[in-house]
Amino acid sequence: MVTGGAGGRESRGRMLRRAPHGGTTGPSAANGQHAFDRILAGDARTRLAQLPDACIDLSFWSPPYHVGKSYERHLSFDDWRELLRSVIHCHSGIVKPGGFLAINIGDILCFPDASIPKFQADNVRRKTSSVTREQVLAARKAHPRAKRQELAALLGCSEQTIHRRLEHNNVRGGKQSMATKVLLTGCLVAEWAEEAGFYLYDQRIWHKDPCWANSRWHSNSYRAVDEFEHIYVFWRPGITQYDRHRLTPSEWAQWGSRGVWRIRSVSRNDRHEAEFPEELAGRVIRLFSPPGGLVLDPFVGAGTTTKVAKLLGRRWLGIDIDTEYAQMAQNADR
Ligand SMILES: C[S@@+](CC[C@H](N)C(=O)[O-])C[C@H]1O[C@@H](n2cnc3c(N)ncnc32)[C@H](O)[C@@H]1O
Repeated sequence: MVTGGAGGRESRGRMLRRAPHGGTTGPSAANGQHAFDRILAGDARTRLAQLPDACIDLSFWSPPYHVGKSYERHLSFDDWRELLRSVIHCHSGIVKPGGFLAINIGDILCFPDASIPKFQADNVRRKTSSVTREQVLAARKAHPRAKRQELAALLGCSEQTIHRRLEHNNVRGGKQSMATKVLLTGCLVAEWAEEAGFYLYDQRIWHKDPCWANSRWHSNSYRAVDEFEHIYVFWRPGITQYDRHRLTPSEWAQWGSRGVWRIRSVSRNDRHEAEFPEELAGRVIRLFSPPGGLVLDPFVGAGTTTKVAKLLGRRWLGIDIDTEYAQMAQNADR
């Protein structure tokens, strides 16, 4: 059972059931003991404030990135900053001394901002694809399960062309829309973590699949495509249990001691728009939490972190503001 009530907000083209701040039931069991191994529906800020002190060994999460996904469209840039800052601040008491807060985030944040100069490119070798929207629609009708990449191969054009013909735009702003503001998120989260008593301990780069869907960011420019994200690991001062046997010698060599992790992205986005791979969660959990330790994800989405934590013999706790996602996470292979 997911703990929490339901509110209402229109989003991602259907009713998104949003739990009220905190819902009606807190995470406490009737006898006053805090119950874990469950998913709570509600706003992370309210739910985290209800947790006991120093109970979490590792909090691992991927927040909204402010790139226009349906679950974050209602947030202004200031709202987004406030959400992340407050959630980080809510961790100050609940993570055990010596424990970790690991945040997975795209380091380059892009969003439309009318106040900055608009980038203008004079493309001296412009090549326009002759593939039409009608052709793309016909190919999609004939192959309804085909991914963009497969449609591109079929029609002999780029994935960008398929995307443009289908969507006309993308999540990253771009040349037809307002000027695109570009910010590094690492500095922001590091500042907020330090305010909350955490110190930057390490970072890993998740080298994911190139995200061609965001190609208007990259096309007609010298920018790279979107193909990596960061995991910023913050440490709460205290004694950290260091156990070399958490990984095998070959795991240490292959990824435990390595800064760049090549892990395929989750390509399906039919149930949740932004799942991260189980392999990513598994590596972070195995490195930064002890067996039997409590792993928290306050933006649990489809439940990747909590599912993997359970498989790895950890206690787990997930929170999501969307009751449908909270239910999905609760049911994730359990
Ligand atoms: C990037 S997704 C997380 C995806 C997750 N890591 C997975 O693998 O499925 C961010 C999630 O945060 C949730 N969310 C947004 N605002 C929230 C808030 N204030 N409190 C709790 N959850 C929130 C969204 O509903 C969304 O599921």
